[in-house]
Amino acid sequence: MEHDLSKTKINDLTVEGARAELKRLAELLLTANRQYHAEDAPVLSDAEYDREKQRNQAIEARFPELVRPDSPSFQVGAAPSSGFSKIKHEKRMMSLGNAFSVEDVQEFDARVRSFLGLNSDQALAYTAEPKIDGLSLSVRYENGDLVAAATRGDGAIGEDVTENAKTIKDIPHHIENAPEILEVRGEVYMSHTDFQNLNARQLELGDKPFSNPRNAAAGSLRQLDASITKSRPLRFFAYAWGVLSAPLGDTQLSSVKTLSTFGFKINELTQRFENTDEMIDHYRLIERQRSTLGYDIDGVVYKVDQLDLQRRLGFRSTTPRWAIAHKFPAERAWTRLEGIDIQVGRTGALSPVARLAPVTVGGVVVSNATLHNEDYILGRDNSGADIRNGKDIRVGDWVEVYRAGDVIPKISDVDLSNRPEDACPFVFPTTCPECGSDAVREPGDAVRRCVGGLICPAQAVEKLKHFVSRGAFDIEGLGTKQIEMFYGDDVLPIREPADIFTLSDRDRTSLARLQNRDGWGPKSAEKLFAAIENRRSVPLNKLIYALGIRHIGENSANLLARNFGSWEKFEQAVTAAGKNHEIWEELLAIDGIGEVLASSLVAAFAQASERNSIDRLAQHLTILPVENTSTSDSPVAGKTVVFTGSLEKMTRAEAKARAEELGAKVAGSVSSKTDLLVAGPGAGSKAKKASELGIEILDENGWLTLVGDA
Ligand code: IVH
Repeated sequence: MEHDLSKTKINDLTVEGARAELKRLAELLLTANRQYHAEDAPVLSDAEYDREKQRNQAIEARFPELVRPDSPSFQVGAAPSSGFSKIKHEKRMMSLGNAFSVEDVQEFDARVRSFLGLNSDQALAYTAEPKIDGLSLSVRYENGDLVAAATRGDGAIGEDVTENAKTIKDIPHHIENAPEILEVRGEVYMSHTDFQNLNARQLELGDKPFSNPRNAAAGSLRQLDASITKSRPLRFFAYAWGVLSAPLGDTQLSSVKTLSTFGFKINELTQRFENTDEMIDHYRLIERQRSTLGYDIDGVVYKVDQLDLQRRLGFRSTTPRWAIAHKFPAERAWTRLEGIDIQVGRTGALSPVARLAPVTVGGVVVSNATLHNEDYILGRDNSGADIRNGKDIRVGDWVEVYRAGDVIPKISDVDLSNRPEDACPFVFPTTCPECGSDAVREPGDAVRRCVGGLICPAQAVEKLKHFVSRGAFDIEGLGTKQIEMFYGDDVLPIREPADIFTLSDRDRTSLARLQNRDGWGPKSAEKLFAAIENRRSVPLNKLIYALGIRHIGENSANLLARNFGSWEKFEQAVTAAGKNHEIWEELLAIDGIGEVLASSLVAAFAQASERNSIDRLAQHLTILPVENTSTSDSPVAGKTVVFTGSLEKMTRAEAKARAEELGAKVAGSVSSKTDLLVAGPGAGSKAKKASELGIEILDENGWLTLVGDA
């Protein structure tokens, strides 16, 4: 009878056993590779495939003389570490805006009040709680049973880490008396002690230690093999929720307390306050306790306590209007500036980067920092005023580095008493270091830009990196590293976005196929092609954002997409706006689109090489209407609404936000494109024009009835 050796530890294998195992693994992995293409159930899951391939390599390392000619190790390419499957968040997972000073917090409070129409002496309570430095997770329960858990991902779609989340002891598998549908959101983190023990273990095993608890937590949660996650000491604080079939409470605080009765850990430092002074006091208290808490925090989060107010305040594109993160001051350290490199970005901006003697700043080793632009190096800010008392920065100088949270480290000061005698002022280049084109500064612009456009390889590569980034096409397996590889490739180049969508066709007829290259195999190549295929259909807003046109961020891309509705209409309008004054004015009439943005957009579509590149791309895509899930049944979806006169039950900002939430476009002036005018008392010329044009006019109550808020 043949023994099953598949579970035998490699160190316990005999020569005969090892030979048999290598044979079994060769057959298994070969079959797995072949079956990967078949539709029906694959013989191995991705995680099993990775594990078996590693086992094969380990046996070969111990018995080099037994390596088979058909060894899976010869199939070029590392085992593809395939991703997780995806989960679409029914309710987006948001991030938070930041406050760095007491004034920022006061401004936040003033914004909230102004949106809600509250004076400074009217009551408005907030909760304050530590901002945990981990990674956020959404856990879904149906009838009390844990059914899914997903990472934040890009906020709309996260990774399915259900099995991993089940191994975290702070996360209950079953909840009594829970709403039928309950999504609990919070932070996965690792305590300081657990982090130190884990790193000691990593070192013992010859594995790389983690650089900080957050990376350790992220690395541990995102394991394809949940048994590894289980061996890692992860913890979870609940602080928010997603979809609910029944409310947890009327306020933030009572809702979080309900979560605690369900068995979740909530942070003990969560408290409710009546004004910003008390909130700041609590911030100071938490800051004093920071080093003894036993886990990393990077600030304090304030949230409007009353949930009906949270609902009215709603969201900007990625952050709630009702919450903010008050960050702790940046960590600082002094080090020597060893060099200044110039990087060329996607819009041609020449950005100076400081190369530093490595230094630890708040637990993280820093060796690069941004120097912003040439004026900054000279000791001047964007308006030409002195910074650092006008001290310039020179290679060889001692400089002070600081970093706040996740942002790129910056340089705040320079020590002239330590300046080497031979240090020279930095000469900022006036030609592009990448393509040799002129680098010019437009009047009023602090930034020097390469005028090479797409002939500049740096701009082209950066544009491509932006194109595949999160928020844009987000193609799995096609990140920064791969873009650089393909950009420089002679056989299967990707030089512009359109090339991504012809890659698989070109590969099929290529003599040097991707699957035969170093670092690739049939499985990983096929995976990449599938991921690209997956993105051939793209929502209009994502496409506009992905084009990487200067000044067009996710917000303005959303606005444009919502306004034009289809690629054809968008592209025609932007093309015509350069020549036709009326269309130019229509573009500017979109609330939130100003001259700078509009000019940049029109210029990009008018510039021949850029335009051709866009046209070539569009041919390969199916462009979908804006991603907007819940608004199709809204009575004002797709309509253009103008508000005028004074409103009494809501502020103008609130009215606009609500209209946009319902899928309407809000314009600042009345034209033949306007569908509806909401006119409060004191409405003047706009109401007159609307009635002349025969446009429907409602008063505030009429509007509230129409949208179901009455
Ligand atoms: S509330 C809609 N509360 O910070 C509001 N977030 O920078 C959702 N975070 O993605 C977030 N501690 O991962 C909230 N007490 C806390 C938090 C917290 C940490 C994280 C969270 C979020 C990120 C935003």
